[in-house]
Amino acid sequence: MNAPALDSRRRFLNACRAQPVDRPPVWLMRQAGRYMAAYQKLRQRYSFMDLCKIPEAALEVTMQPIHAFGMDAAIIFSDILMPLEAMGLPLQFTEAGPRFEWAVKDSSDLSRLRVPDAGKDLGYVAQAMRLVRKELGEEKALLGFAGSPMTLFAYAAEGGSSHHFNRARAMMYSNPDLVHALLDRLTPLITDHLLMQIEAGADAVQIFSSHADLFPVEHYRRFNLPYLNAIVEAVAKTGKPVILFARGTWSLLESMLESRPQAVSADWRVGLAEYRAALPASVAVQGNFDPAMLFAAPFRVREEMTRAFNSLDGDPHGLIINLGHGVLPGTPEENVAEFVRAVKEYPWKAAGSRHETV
Ligand code: CP3
Repeated sequence: MNAPALDSRRRFLNACRAQPVDRPPVWLMRQAGRYMAAYQKLRQRYSFMDLCKIPEAALEVTMQPIHAFGMDAAIIFSDILMPLEAMGLPLQFTEAGPRFEWAVKDSSDLSRLRVPDAGKDLGYVAQAMRLVRKELGEEKALLGFAGSPMTLFAYAAEGGSSHHFNRARAMMYSNPDLVHALLDRLTPLITDHLLMQIEAGADAVQIFSSHADLFPVEHYRRFNLPYLNAIVEAVAKTGKPVILFARGTWSLLESMLESRPQAVSADWRVGLAEYRAALPASVAVQGNFDPAMLFAAPFRVREEMTRAFNSLDGDPHGLIINLGHGVLPGTPEENVAEFVRAVKEYPWKAAGSRHETV
């Protein structure tokens, strides 16, 4: 017997809590963005920063993929780097990625940083969130997000994006006190930013530890874990689920679980069935298809996804279907449509309790 159909919001929240669902919810990291013609069109009129800071524009971009493809959840259109800009690091998004006007290199740079007020300095995110919540209605889930302390530290130390974050990695050895001092400044701001998004209507939040795979696990434990734990603990008091993303998921899994997220967002290097076997039954797994898969023909996308779902015995429990990282620019829109349909049309098994791992 099939489980009664749930609305997207209930399905998403049940999935985060590893409670029964009719099918897993589906959304994609970077589901709004450059691969969409509708986004490109708006970008001719607005800079990326404007799209983030003008609430009506952020509303429109947030809704574009929902209207076009019908994901179960929307994610607010913004960027993890906005809190750094609010701290006084002027930010530009260039062809080569984000660039700050200056980088944090020593303690005198640290004293140049402002102590922002999330409510005031990032208030445009909350305003956009309220607009999206109204437009989405009661039946779709809305996600807020933030970067992890270590990820934001890495961008601040580097002065923008970087292949290997060499300067940030070096600073962890040469000046750990400075790193901790910056993390101490970032943590309350990230916490307030997430709490503000929840107050403005987010059903759940995702924390991105995006480049965690570049750092020794020991440094993740020293320079991310305690700060992350404080943030997750503060969000947990609201009762809203936290999804924790880190690239290099498999090698960080034990440490990630120590932060007690409701869901772990996994990259694509190890299969979903392995994650399900490795995670406690109460922790959901989100993911984890290779974003490059979406460059194959639609029938191949469907085939790959069916194979992965079969490897889970068609059991939808504790599962949020997503990519293992963001949608790549140039991805055919038709394949994003197929990705969503493949989840909706798969013959998922009826709701029951998730198999305990032995
Ligand atoms: O749809 C969504 O997922 C919501 C919006 C969103 C963006 N960035 C929009 C964006 C989210 C959740 C992010 C998170 C983000 N931003 C992360 C964490 C996720 C990850 O990718 O690991 C990171 C590391 C950033 C920093 C960032 N922002 C980089 C490195 C870049 C340039 C490279 C790139 O992918 O474009 C951005 C720019 C950015 N953020 C764009 C978008 C839509 C492209 C802007 C444009 O050129 O129009």
